[in-house]
Amino acid sequence: METITYQIKERNEEIKLPENLGFGKYFTDHIFEMDYTVDSGWHNPTIKPLADISMHPATMFIHYGQAIFEGLKAFKTVNGEVVLFRPDQHIKRLNNSAKRVCIPPVDEDFLLEALKELVNIEHNWIPAKKGESLYIRPFVYGSNPFLGVSPAKTYKLIILLSPVGAYYSEGFKPVKILVQDEYVRAVRKGLGECKTPANYAASLLAGEEAKAKGFTQVLWLDAVAQKNIEEVGTMNIFINMKGEIVTPKLNGGILPGITRKTVIQLLKEWDMNIVEREISIDEVTKKYDSGDLFGIFGTGTAAVISAVGWLSFKEKNMTINGGDAGELAVKLFDEITSIQYGLKDDTHGWIYKVEKKEVEVS
Ligand code: COI
Repeated sequence: METITYQIKERNEEIKLPENLGFGKYFTDHIFEMDYTVDSGWHNPTIKPLADISMHPATMFIHYGQAIFEGLKAFKTVNGEVVLFRPDQHIKRLNNSAKRVCIPPVDEDFLLEALKELVNIEHNWIPAKKGESLYIRPFVYGSNPFLGVSPAKTYKLIILLSPVGAYYSEGFKPVKILVQDEYVRAVRKGLGECKTPANYAASLLAGEEAKAKGFTQVLWLDAVAQKNIEEVGTMNIFINMKGEIVTPKLNGGILPGITRKTVIQLLKEWDMNIVEREISIDEVTKKYDSGDLFGIFGTGTAAVISAVGWLSFKEKNMTINGGDAGELAVKLFDEITSIQYGLKDDTHGWIYKVEKKEVEVS
């Protein structure tokens, strides 16, 4: 792979981040970009000023959705260091998603270096407050103009950076969830385990209808029998019950979350009985009725841990753990964020340091 070309613009003013960052509203000054062609493979890696993209109206991904993305975070630790959380896992998942939709794979080591270079250049944009971070959004799309249904011949990979706060406006407060038994998010052997825009498009109508009824998001059931629990909103789900903590087993329809993987590993280290298996919504309601359901929470990069305080299924309205996040969700959130912000040592090799280097302004 070629070396990265830098087109860095001079910064005249100090970066002032708004008080309330929210999620995905602000963007840093530069992006990373590279191109793919059949003859040259991935080439032309460049870090350049953020600008609008101009594209032909027949650009393939606009029509047939051949695109993938990732979401990971950079943190400013309490010692002033800049770190990434499990970037290797995100890059690996990007390549898994790529395979499913016929996008050519990227060199994982090179992409990690590119990511670190971009974050280094934009490190002044990383908020230092706990709960805030720099969200990193790599994405790839089929870029040549053509209206026949086939894999594209050229691709673009872009890394975009966005300083963020909490994903949900509730922050860490428990959310209200509606069990969705009309629409489905993804089918097994379809695109469910792939981080591709289609899955998010499929989720929008259900999300909007749930919001109109006063819920934050929906809980997704499997697409065949609409019986087993799969995901919650855009997150993986964990159910804390008497004797075991259950998370749905990866079945091709569920996104293999990096936070999901992190939580499973922590629970195992804490000697808790974490089980990956099928779990039906009926089992959850029965456990609720018998008083054996202690907590439900979602896991994802954006929100880390998001507790479900209220769950509604058909006519049944359940208040989970008195509408409180619960000890386990709080403990997991504290553990993961403490490692991310350097308040606790990383004994797992999850943290990747970004060395601060001077880069010349062009
Ligand atoms: C996450 O939880 O990190 C997500 O996947 C949400 C993202 C699509 C905004």
